Amino acid sequence: MTLLPKNSNGCPYLQLAPMEGVGDRCFRKAMASIGGFDEAVRDFLRVPRNAHIESLAREYEADEIAPIPLAAQLMGSELDLMAAMAREMEKKGAHRIDLNCGCPSNTVTGKGAGSSLLKEPDFLHDVAKSIVEAVSIPVTLKMRSGFEDTSLFKDNLLAAEASGVRYITLHPRTKVDGYGPPARWDLIAEAKSLLKIPLVGNGDILTVDDALRMLKTTGCDGLMIGRGSIINPFLFQQIKAHFSGENFIPQWDDLIRYFEVYCAEIPAGVPPKIRINKLKQLMGFLFKGNAELLEMRQSILTSQYAEPEEFMQFALPLLRKGWSFLFSS
Ligand SMILES: Cc1cc2nc3c(=O)[nH]c(=O)nc-3n(C[C@H](O)[C@H](O)[C@H](O)COP(=O)(O)O)c2cc1C
Repeated sequence: MTLLPKNSNGCPYLQLAPMEGVGDRCFRKAMASIGGFDEAVRDFLRVPRNAHIESLAREYEADEIAPIPLAAQLMGSELDLMAAMAREMEKKGAHRIDLNCGCPSNTVTGKGAGSSLLKEPDFLHDVAKSIVEAVSIPVTLKMRSGFEDTSLFKDNLLAAEASGVRYITLHPRTKVDGYGPPARWDLIAEAKSLLKIPLVGNGDILTVDDALRMLKTTGCDGLMIGRGSIINPFLFQQIKAHFSGENFIPQWDDLIRYFEVYCAEIPAGVPPKIRINKLKQLMGFLFKGNAELLEMRQSILTSQYAEPEEFMQFALPLLRKGWSFLFSS
């Protein structure tokens, strides 16, 4: 059975990307309240040399956004530990484990994990294989196009495929690129032509047109969207609606519920200031790129409130105004 089944209307399998720091549990729950994506990948669980497997594993909750499945992502390079952690994830009900071969953070790459694995295709193969052999659930791998450059791109793809992973998700930027230059969709097309296993395309999908263009120009088997979904939480629904021929109009009430769910999921002990900063971070992304909403965003980001409720009372009418501008609903 394919792991990336198309929706009945021909819409490709849609995944919410892992986004450490921004795309946390609160965000995933809020996104699930709107829906439209078929699966999400949790941000990475770092598996350092001295990892205590059981306590680390507590951070993963397989049914966090049930019925939408949530894959567990692991980042590390110690073969035995990665295998042990993978087994623990399977015990906890994970339906799939993804190996992170893309995180650019120096603290991570310093220990030879994340994007550092792209420097040594043979080692990448061994790490992936140690997980594949440890569990009976599908293992997949998410990678960038290289570390400093793309000279090992093909080797890394083929090493990953040979390890037994079921599919690859490609974010076509190198580690050195960070998130700066445009994602190189031509590399997604190249990977698709090289691989026998399926490929999920990722990077710079901000609109329905982008999604359609990526599908058409690369031939990839599924789509993963990260920042585009924080900018527009309705993007997945809009893509689905395109395929089903529905006239989908985002509803303000759904955006309100999105914020309500987000706030409700922030753990009780988190101080008001940090709550407000989290909300500002989310609102800072919302509808980013719209020059007309710049002033509104600035007012929200620079506002000074002590209590989250006061902040929301200030911010929501501004957002509503921006919303009317965008959707006139
Ligand atoms: C804040 C942030 C955190 C991220 N954390 C992860 C992560 O934990 N694991 C991972 O594989 N990729 C991570 N990524 C990369 C994204 O999953 C995705 O590959 C990248 O943002 C490109 O897709 P996009 O243009 O749709 O955002 C992160 C990206 C951002 C912006």
